[in-house]
Amino acid sequence: MDSLEQLVATAVQDFMAAQDDAAALENAKAKYLGKTGQITELMKGLGKLDPEQRKAQGALINAAKGSIEAALTARRDALADAQMQSRLNAEAIDVTLPGRGRAGGGIHPVMRTWERVEEIFRSIGFDVADGPEIENDWTNFTALNSPENHPARSMQDTFYIDGNDGDGKPLLLRTHTSPMQVRYARSHTPPIKVIAPGRTYRVDSDATHSPMFHQVEGLWIAENISFADLKGVYLNFVKAFFETDDLQVRFRPSYFPFTEPSAEIDIAFGSGPNKGRWLEVSGSGQVHPNVVRNFGLDPEKYIGFAFGSGLERLTMLRYGINDLRLFYEGDLRFLKQFN
Ligand code: DAH
Repeated sequence: MDSLEQLVATAVQDFMAAQDDAAALENAKAKYLGKTGQITELMKGLGKLDPEQRKAQGALINAAKGSIEAALTARRDALADAQMQSRLNAEAIDVTLPGRGRAGGGIHPVMRTWERVEEIFRSIGFDVADGPEIENDWTNFTALNSPENHPARSMQDTFYIDGNDGDGKPLLLRTHTSPMQVRYARSHTPPIKVIAPGRTYRVDSDATHSPMFHQVEGLWIAENISFADLKGVYLNFVKAFFETDDLQVRFRPSYFPFTEPSAEIDIAFGSGPNKGRWLEVSGSGQVHPNVVRNFGLDPEKYIGFAFGSGLERLTMLRYGINDLRLFYEGDLRFLKQFN
């Protein structure tokens, strides 16, 4: 039947004309399949026909209706696909773009030294201890044989903190790691063999001094530990640390309140016009009997050595760095060279 075929063709055209707007397709659908749509009207007209014709005509109309419904579904799917496709295109991630990347972190050269020092001393049986950076006056000074008003205290001016230690004295940022000798020795029984690396503070700032810096304290107390042991242990340490036997190390007589005798340890560095220069890396000595007593031990029985070395100094010598301030500026051009 010509007009039915025509109707199907027009419906398909209408559906195709509906673009990415769902309402347009639904309007087109209503034109054919809605309550007053053309197919619906044709169906209603069937009642007027006689049974024979009704059956034949009904089948044809149903077939046309089926075609129209199929075309409608196909168009709906096509439009949904197209919409999905355009969304996918709009939201597409270009996986070919190079990633933003994340720069690898690195270990600060002073921390590298800290780790190496721990490793070397652990390998010869030293314990590694950690303690507070906020100290009290007794542990930082008095117990280390620097009585109040002793002139040696003025060499170590520091930052004081509001509040007090219970003794009526202000708390302070420790000026050296030496108070760790006292803390550790008072809480352990001999033989005492420990290092204590950590941050220390002073009112100092120039090419070789910073208000915050790092030290490692060493302490070995037993019944027969001598100055000769200090020399042996320290020489072994620097040889391991600098990875060479070809080092000039000198023990230069000095004074510290907490040791007697005392020595500063210098290492030769430099070549050419700089040859023959020395850098002090450590204080050291045989622990003073008063200090051993403050450890809670009998100085007639217990004896030993202590040292306190600058981690920055050791790092400067190891890598040939001539200005301490480079360590604290956070300049990646400097820091990257160590990683
Ligand atoms: N605490 C001293 C300072 O910071 C260094 C020092 C000297 C530590 C002699 C010691 C020592 O353990 O025996 O200047």
